[in-house]
Amino acid sequence: MPGHALLSSMLLVVMAHLSRADGAVGTGKSKISAVFMFGDSIVDPGNNNNRLTEARANFPPYGQDFPGGKATGRFSNGRVPGDMLDSKLGVKEFLPPYNGDDLELSDLLTGVAFASGGSGYDPLTSIPATATSSTGQLELFLEYKEKLKTLVGEEEATRVISEGIYFTAMGANDIANNYFSIPLRRHQYDLPSYVNFLISSAVNFTMVSRR
Ligand SMILES: *[C@@H]1O[C@H](CO)[C@@H](O)[C@H](O)[C@H]1NC(C)=O
Repeated sequence: MPGHALLSSMLLVVMAHLSRADGAVGTGKSKISAVFMFGDSIVDPGNNNNRLTEARANFPPYGQDFPGGKATGRFSNGRVPGDMLDSKLGVKEFLPPYNGDDLELSDLLTGVAFASGGSGYDPLTSIPATATSSTGQLELFLEYKEKLKTLVGEEEATRVISEGIYFTAMGANDIANNYFSIPLRRHQYDLPSYVNFLISSAVNFTMVSRR
């Protein structure tokens, strides 16, 4: 099915954004201090919990296989990819939401997720879902960096940021919930040119996040 092939290649594109701020991926000796996650519901651990939106998951049966059976806001019965990557990389067991209520300094020092259910690269995608747009997530990341500097000083903050690893999982809502559901973009772009627009947005997002 062509739609499926397209989504698969979109996913490949988004996953390819796996990058270290210092470009030191796979050098063996590199030590990862923190994990940062941008994206949509696939990787949102509860950033939408206090938001007036349908894109929320802090009620049963979500979380039924999570420790304590708690519906944390993860769009899953259990852990989400950020948690799995976090523990595989030896950083911590769970990647908390940046908008969470009980963030501690140790959480800020080891990474957080800025991902928001319903989000996408296209700014229009986040509007119906009242999600935090990709640009909004970058703004939160800037805010996070400033907060960290205030809390632990410039040098330590720079270490955390530069030894961190960054993931982005976004794009599915742009195709499924925007292009194929709302006519506006279909009047402006045919599918290949909309995909090019998304890829250009993904590249720009990655470049800006590395500044
Ligand atoms: C990405 O950035 C380039 C260079 O600033 C710009 O020309 C282009 O329009 C941007 N693409 C999107 C989709 O915003």
